[in-house]
Amino acid sequence: MCGIVGYVGNKKAIDVLISGLKNLEYRGYDSSGVALIDTNSIEIIKSVGKIKNLEDKLKDKNLDKFNIGLAHTRWATHGEASLVNAHPHTIGNIVIVHNGIIENAKELKNELINEGIEFNSETDTEVVAALINKYLENDIIKTISKVMNTIKGSYALGIMVKGINDKLYVAKKDSPLVIGIGEDENFFASDICAINMYTNKFVFLDDYDIAEISKNSVNYYSNGNKVDKKVDTIDIDLNSKSKNGYPHYMLKEINEEPTVLEKTLKPYLEDFSSIPDLTNYDEIHIVACGSAMYAGMIGKNLFEEKANIKSTCEVASEYRYKNNIYTNKTLVILISQSGETADTIAALKKAKELGQDTLAIVNVKTSTIARLADKVVFIEAGEEIAVATTKAYILQVAVISLLALKLAYNKKLIDNIDTYLEEFKTIPKLVKNVIDRENDYKKIAKEIKDNENVFFIGRRYDYAMCLEGSLKLKEVSYIHSEAYPSGELKHGTISLIDKGIPVFCILTDDELYEKSISNIVEVESRGAKTIIISKKSLKQNRKLEICVDDVSQFVIPLLVVPVLQLIAYHTAVDRGCDVDKPKNLAKSVTVE
Ligand code: F6R
Repeated sequence: MCGIVGYVGNKKAIDVLISGLKNLEYRGYDSSGVALIDTNSIEIIKSVGKIKNLEDKLKDKNLDKFNIGLAHTRWATHGEASLVNAHPHTIGNIVIVHNGIIENAKELKNELINEGIEFNSETDTEVVAALINKYLENDIIKTISKVMNTIKGSYALGIMVKGINDKLYVAKKDSPLVIGIGEDENFFASDICAINMYTNKFVFLDDYDIAEISKNSVNYYSNGNKVDKKVDTIDIDLNSKSKNGYPHYMLKEINEEPTVLEKTLKPYLEDFSSIPDLTNYDEIHIVACGSAMYAGMIGKNLFEEKANIKSTCEVASEYRYKNNIYTNKTLVILISQSGETADTIAALKKAKELGQDTLAIVNVKTSTIARLADKVVFIEAGEEIAVATTKAYILQVAVISLLALKLAYNKKLIDNIDTYLEEFKTIPKLVKNVIDRENDYKKIAKEIKDNENVFFIGRRYDYAMCLEGSLKLKEVSYIHSEAYPSGELKHGTISLIDKGIPVFCILTDDELYEKSISNIVEVESRGAKTIIISKKSLKQNRKLEICVDDVSQFVIPLLVVPVLQLIAYHTAVDRGCDVDKPKNLAKSVTVE
């Protein structure tokens, strides 16, 4: 993963770099570092842990004279999160920051060691620095091109060359990289959010691009040849960064769900014809990672049950390496909040190479997936800062439900479309009612916070919601949690059910009500402490039960999952966890 940022201009580079790093911290926070250059000197400062630690280290240094620099925030891939593995890395005349993975680093490193090169760190990045240093000649573009022909894998590289104190160089393959164009200043970054407070003009680099960045110009090269690039003007709301009085972004973002649902759904509900029509397809492959994949599982159930179309839902890291069987009318739907998830991008590219139609459900409009997919349906989550997704997940579910509803309607499998559309209009209000019952969730959090194992059970749609509830709980509270289809538990896992172990049971599916109840009783008979999340018509009147409104299957997940998100949130707070930045995670998984 990792995030990189660079600056050339008249400002104090350190200020630009630190603010950039803070905005990139969602990409990893194992360590960070900066490198600054002027005519006489180079300063490299690194620190382990969050950007705050780097800032503390910078306090007693005067770096104001530097107007050029690059910086990095790391999510460790090669080598532990230590000072020695923190970027920037230096070999000879080269100082480098890197987002990505160099797949042939090991063999290249062995060759370089045999040639007498000494390495300090365990990183793959140092190998790139060593290669650039080895091939270094007056024509830096030629040097970088040669290195790009030698390395394999993914990279966004920021390069500083000792002795060249008015330019930075960048190179890209498979990891995102954007150039920011300013007045007498230019920038580069992994994401526009690192630099969009300084400029609204951006150039998105393509694979195999190199850029030479100085204060007054940026030169672009593709496969070694000089090229022109399109400049995009993108204005972004900079107010979204505030916590708005909430103690954590996660809570703020859950509370934004009614507003972002309204914003996303309204245009489609006012003009139903604007929802893409999928009647031309006879099969749907849904591909995504993590929560986005769980949102896809709700979609898969709806497509199959309501729109009678064969559907699969798979994790992108598996899909990209499988022999996927297509009919000549298969649609591949990719779901991604960031639009930068490496495996989802790879699955999209593969489907396109094989000639399949692709449709992406994406939040970030400027992202790689948004730019590559044939069709895009945007969700309007705004910026999601908490590492654990909440509002974006809800919108992904809302949009895929609308796609399934429209397909079912077009195939004449439902006739009372107006009733459904009216129900969709009530979603923001119903979700707000759910979110407002804060004390109920705090109570459940108190019940589970001292447990180290929790289970979630449900069938069909309820199982898909269990997967998301379980992921949310484990990632923010560090309680081990597993989600099972209710009927599957007794095929092994039920041996783990002991007295007092919490089991969340989701109960919203009328057709499978009796089956689900039997499974609930099975775990209770073995001493489990069940927590039921039901809808009103299936209410069980248990001590630990949350009931949501009776709505159709298209809408029910949008009421149940906020309950699970809030229970996960309050449990994590009670356990003193770093809710917005859970350990080992990064918001955007840009390596495979
Ligand atoms: C979990 C979470 C992740 C993401 C996954 C995909 O809370 O946020 O599981 O859903 O990494 O990310 P996107 O949607 O950006 O492709």
